[in-house]
Amino acid sequence: MARRKFLMGNWKMYKTVGEALAFATAISESKTPLPESIDYAVAAPFTALYALRSALPENVLLGAQNAYFEQEGAFTGEVSARMLADVGVKYVIVGHSERRHVFDESDEWIRKKVHAVVQAGMLPVLCVGEDLRQRELNHTLRVCERQTLSGLAELTPEQVASSVIAYEPVWAIGSGQTPSPDDAEGVIRSIRHVVEQEKGSVAANSIRILYGGSVKPGNIAGFMQQVNIDGSLVGGASLDPASFVDLAVATAGAAQ
Ligand code: 13P
Repeated sequence: MARRKFLMGNWKMYKTVGEALAFATAISESKTPLPESIDYAVAAPFTALYALRSALPENVLLGAQNAYFEQEGAFTGEVSARMLADVGVKYVIVGHSERRHVFDESDEWIRKKVHAVVQAGMLPVLCVGEDLRQRELNHTLRVCERQTLSGLAELTPEQVASSVIAYEPVWAIGSGQTPSPDDAEGVIRSIRHVVEQEKGSVAANSIRILYGGSVKPGNIAGFMQQVNIDGSLVGGASLDPASFVDLAVATAGAAQ
């Protein structure tokens, strides 16, 4: 079964409610419509989610950037998966490199978060990827394998099938540097192979695996032409509505 390409913006800690709404208006009124042949989501800051829910075009689904694994309780400052589902979130990014490295999230926390997101009826976007030192030591595949197996450990093959993985090499995030499309394809192919060994071929053939890290309108097509790369998770270049539309058009063009 062919997997539809998926363009997801990760806004990180950018945009007030007003700025998020201005983005939604701009893509809704864009002279170039978002192509219908691909799927979309934007992962907005928590504060903007409720307002964005009714402002985004119908085909752009609401995403969040993190979730806590407990349903409720004395966890000052945290937001649960259940709360996110309640405001209309469909996709939750889990284990982003900034969560792993700036906030020290462990594989165990990430596994619990992935599970909590699925239990709440949403789809996890599990981020995996090596840092520069690991790449130089030739440990890329083993790091991605460990993070993938650990992150998906509590999911059934059916739950894995509708999940998303984002391969984001840490050294490529926000740096302007990227692996070549061939290189990213090789890593993503091996992540898919790991999923197949652990969860079976239906899950492996259905799960969408994205590339992320310094994706721009000018370089996205090369990644999207690869057979195993099912879309992209875009930070900086997803903030501007015209750039988001350009990414969408380039993705749709490459997918043909
Ligand atoms: P950039 O696209 O800004 O490099 O960020 C990538 C990323 O971290 C998306 O989650």
